[in-house]
Amino acid sequence: MSQPTPHLLLVDDEGALRTVTAARLRERGFEVVEAETGEKALELLEQFAFDILVTDLRLPGVDGRQVVNASVGRYPAIVAIVITGYGNFKDALDAGKQGVADFVTKPFQFDELMHVLHKALEQRRLATENAYLRSQLEERYQFGGILGRSQPMRALFQLLETVARSSSTILITGETGTGKEVVARAIHHNSDRRAHKFVALNCSAIPETLLEAELFGHVRGAFTGAVGSREGRFEQAHKGTLFLDEVGTMSVGLQMKLLRVLQERNFERVGDNQTVKVDVRVIAATNSSLSRMVADGAFREDLYYRLNVIPLELPPLRDRRDDIPVLAKHFLGRFAPGAEVKISQSAMRALMAYSWPGNVRQLENALERAVALGAGRREIDSADLPPELHPRASALPSAFVELPDEGINLSRYLASIERDLIHRALERCVGNRNKAAALLQIKRTTLVEKLKRIGPIQ
Ligand SMILES: Nc1ncnc2c1ncn2[C@@H]1O[C@H](COP(=O)(O)OP(=O)(O)OP(=O)(O)O)[C@@H](O)[C@H]1O
Ligand SMILES: [Mg+2]
Repeated sequence: MSQPTPHLLLVDDEGALRTVTAARLRERGFEVVEAETGEKALELLEQFAFDILVTDLRLPGVDGRQVVNASVGRYPAIVAIVITGYGNFKDALDAGKQGVADFVTKPFQFDELMHVLHKALEQRRLATENAYLRSQLEERYQFGGILGRSQPMRALFQLLETVARSSSTILITGETGTGKEVVARAIHHNSDRRAHKFVALNCSAIPETLLEAELFGHVRGAFTGAVGSREGRFEQAHKGTLFLDEVGTMSVGLQMKLLRVLQERNFERVGDNQTVKVDVRVIAATNSSLSRMVADGAFREDLYYRLNVIPLELPPLRDRRDDIPVLAKHFLGRFAPGAEVKISQSAMRALMAYSWPGNVRQLENALERAVALGAGRREIDSADLPPELHPRASALPSAFVELPDEGINLSRYLASIERDLIHRALERCVGNRNKAAALLQIKRTTLVEKLKRIGPIQ
């Protein structure tokens, strides 16, 4: 792979040394520009984005430190190397705080300088590469605030990219807490409608008698208590998106009216006969199976087809366990911002093994609680997790174990599980090794052997 020629600015007031060093650097493939004063260096830095700065610290007038400051301030990715006189260690340390990659002490061998240069360039290359990889990962593992790395979620992200751009009606199904509302919002924010409103209405939260007025608005005197006219959610969402949550709870009478809006894009406010036209994208959500409700006669079939133009199904969290570490780390960052709190291996195992009936919302709550209980500690442990998560004595099926991208040290990991189980067996048997061995279905001597190997268990 051919690298672009690195551009290097060499600043030194000792003419002979500078000329020789520059010549040798050129032989090694660097494009070198020389400056004999700090002032000249600042001028050159104004004109060109160098990759590398090599400067003497002691210069008459503007000194090396000022040159470093100016270059790092202007080009944060520049590799700055400082040449110091012998004994100027303190000065060098001060300069080090200001973004210097490395130092060379005078008098130096040319090879020493080359070594320092290569090391610094390699570090910069890795940093850039990591930043790039990180941005790639973030892109892949999320879509508009929805996190996930499991196969079903990645497939969903791809689908979302396409459907967000259309105006088609979408029906999102999924158990409670699977992220239906997050998905609806992400669709809106990635659509052409993002400059207009996202209006959400939970159909089950409003009494049936008021739901119609809530959706379509009403005029004064339309019903008892209707003191003034009011626009409904459809009008509020004009040009934007209307999110109808729990659409399955709507009465058959209202279903009829909703069908009409979806077909004709117009309606009347309650108590009025004037037709209102709207341009609204509807996203509906339900945690019950609408197709079953259709079969049972509880939901209109024609409305079901109108809503189900693009069906999006959010799988329960237990069917996409690969998302658990990503989500857990995300929530940890939210509840303990800037604190660099980690999740212990045993806590992560418990998170991976649990069935999460309340899905992502339950995971979010569990971590909020854990952060509160762990008050100030650097690591969340399984004891900080809600009681229902505490794994029983049975070994965990390997499908529940997180396999990180960077791989795992299998023997160390298995050893930690072994240690954990031995610990618990001894705990349960109040330290009686005979009973603990029986519980683990191994010979007592084997248990003693293992204990010797893993050291005492507190
Ligand atoms: N993939 C995800 N990435 C990040 N956060 C998520 C994800 N899925 C869900 N959440 C979070 O979990 C919580 C529940 O999500 P949301 O309210 O969208 O679920 P829901 O399916 O609408 O639930 P319900 O059926 O109970 O209304 C929210 O706080 C949301 O931010
Ligand atoms: Mg919801």
